[in-house]
Amino acid sequence: MSGFSPEWLAKREPADVRARDPGLLAALAAHLAGRDSIEVIDLGCGTGSNIRATAPVLGPVQEWTLVDYDPVLLEAARAALFTWADEASENGESIALKKEGRAIIVRFRQADLMQDLEAVVGDGPDLVTASALFDLCSVDFIRRVARTVAGEGAAFYTVLTYDGAQTWSPTHPADADMTAAFNAHQETDKGFGSAAGPAAPEALALAFREQGYVVQEAASPWRIDSSEQALIEMLADGFAAAVAEIGRVPPDVIGHWLSVRRTASVVGHTDTLALPPG
Ligand SMILES: C[S@@+](CC[C@H](N)C(=O)[O-])C[C@H]1O[C@@H](n2cnc3c(N)ncnc32)[C@H](O)[C@@H]1O
Repeated sequence: MSGFSPEWLAKREPADVRARDPGLLAALAAHLAGRDSIEVIDLGCGTGSNIRATAPVLGPVQEWTLVDYDPVLLEAARAALFTWADEASENGESIALKKEGRAIIVRFRQADLMQDLEAVVGDGPDLVTASALFDLCSVDFIRRVARTVAGEGAAFYTVLTYDGAQTWSPTHPADADMTAAFNAHQETDKGFGSAAGPAAPEALALAFREQGYVVQEAASPWRIDSSEQALIEMLADGFAAAVAEIGRVPPDVIGHWLSVRRTASVVGHTDTLALPPG
C-alpha cells in the first residue's frame, strides 16, 4: 500500500542505525531522564526501525504508539519487535516487551497522518518521533506537525530526513543530472501535498523555532560500501526508477548510469531534535 516494502526497510535498517547522530540521541535521553514513564508516538513507523534504535537509550518504562497507514508494515513491525525483544507477550491489542531491563508497551495504530495527525498526537505524549518521513511531507504538513506537537508541549525528534546530497563511487558523468532529477522527484506529492524533499530539514527547524522550540540538528549520512552490495544495488535501482519517472534524463543515459557497478555511496540526511521552551 505505501510503496515501502518490509524487505527494503529491513535492508536499510543497519545503515540507518549507523547513520543516526549519537549526540542528538543522548540529548533527547537527557531531556526525558527522570520521568516515571515515557509516552512516545512514532509517526510513519514502517516495520519499527525507530523504536528499536531509540527505546534502548530512554527510561525504564515506556509506552509507544506506532502509527502507519500500511497494515502490512504494522504487522511486520509487530513480528520484528517480538524477535528484537528479550521477552515479548501479547497484551490485547498491544504487546508487552522487555528489552535490556526496560518495560515497553507497544500499540499499533493504522491511520493516515494527513487525515488524522491531531487525533494521533493529541493525547499528551512526552515525545513525538519519526524516522525517514519528513522529506515525503509538504512544508504545510511540517508546520502542522510543529503546531500539533507544540500544542501538547512534547519533545520532537526525527532522524534521517533526506537533504539532497548524494555521491556515488565510481562517479559517472550523469551523476549531477541524475541527482537533480531525483531531487525533483522527491518534491512530488507523496500524499501530503508537494513534498519538501531536500528542503525538509530546513523546514522542520524553521517550523519548530516558530513554535518557540530549541532546535538542534546534526548530519546523519548513510555511508554504504561494497560490504552492503545488495543495499547499494537496491538504492541505485530505486534512484534510477525515480529519475525515469521525472523524465528529465534520457532513458539510455539512465540505463548506462545503472550499468555501472557501484562500490560505495553517501546519501545526505539530517537528524533534528526540537525541545519545548523552558
Ligand atoms: C521511508 S518509510 C520509513 C519507515 C520507518 N520509519 C523507518 O525508518 O524504517 C516512510 C513510512 O511512512 C509511512 N507513511 C507514508 N505516508 C503516510 C501517511 N500519509 N500516513 C501514515 N503513514 C505514512 C509509510 O507507510 C512508511 O512506513
